[in-house]
Amino acid sequence: MRDPVPFLDTNAMPWAKPGPPGIYSKLLSRDPETGERTALNRLQPEEGMNPPGAAHYHHTTEELLIVKGRMSFDSQVWLTPQSYCFHPPETVHGFKSAVPEESWFLSRVGQELDFNFVEEPVQLSPYYVCSEPPARGVVYHAEPAVGVWEEIENAQRFVLSLDPDTGEGSVLLRTKPGWTSGADGEALTRFEEVFVLEGALSCTDENAYTDGCYNFNPPGAQRRSLTCTDAALLYFTVGPEDT
Ligand SMILES: [Fe+2]
Repeated sequence: MRDPVPFLDTNAMPWAKPGPPGIYSKLLSRDPETGERTALNRLQPEEGMNPPGAAHYHHTTEELLIVKGRMSFDSQVWLTPQSYCFHPPETVHGFKSAVPEESWFLSRVGQELDFNFVEEPVQLSPYYVCSEPPARGVVYHAEPAVGVWEEIENAQRFVLSLDPDTGEGSVLLRTKPGWTSGADGEALTRFEEVFVLEGALSCTDENAYTDGCYNFNPPGAQRRSLTCTDAALLYFTVGPEDT
């Protein structure tokens, strides 16, 4: 299980340079047993960073939210700030990947990422090589801002991807004054993970959450309630119901 990350201002963290040129990372939370983790990544193509040169799949989930710049897995659909994609395990993707400029993205993976290259993909759009199509399917949202947002109490919600069996999933939230993340002190039955993309919120942990601030609370942790005082845009993820 991942440890709680009560408050993290990612702006104050140094970039780690894990190895290949032009790739930088800030690790936000990680399960040491499974390798499940959330990280903020930065790609600098002018430093020699090259995206994977061939289509590939992983044996775990890969979930991306773009924070800055632009990138593509096929050089047709371009992912720009607030764009999102979810690749279930064993989804072939990356047919003609491109990163033309400095790009930042939040990356969530379900375990250590393995690369399985497919030199001759059977089609040039994502497809599954697993025996059964996954319940939580592949998703690309290039422009959530112009999609259909659901009105909820003191906020608008755009569902990015949701597992119909477990309830695990991610949403974008445009919060308004009065929005709150839930009852303070409540014991969580599943993990909650928040990354602030824009705006500011106050929290009962007495930290001010502005853009780039993050927290992760595992099941069993007590929620420290976030409250929106002006307006904010959040990337919010919840874990499966049964953990
Ligand atoms: Fe990938």
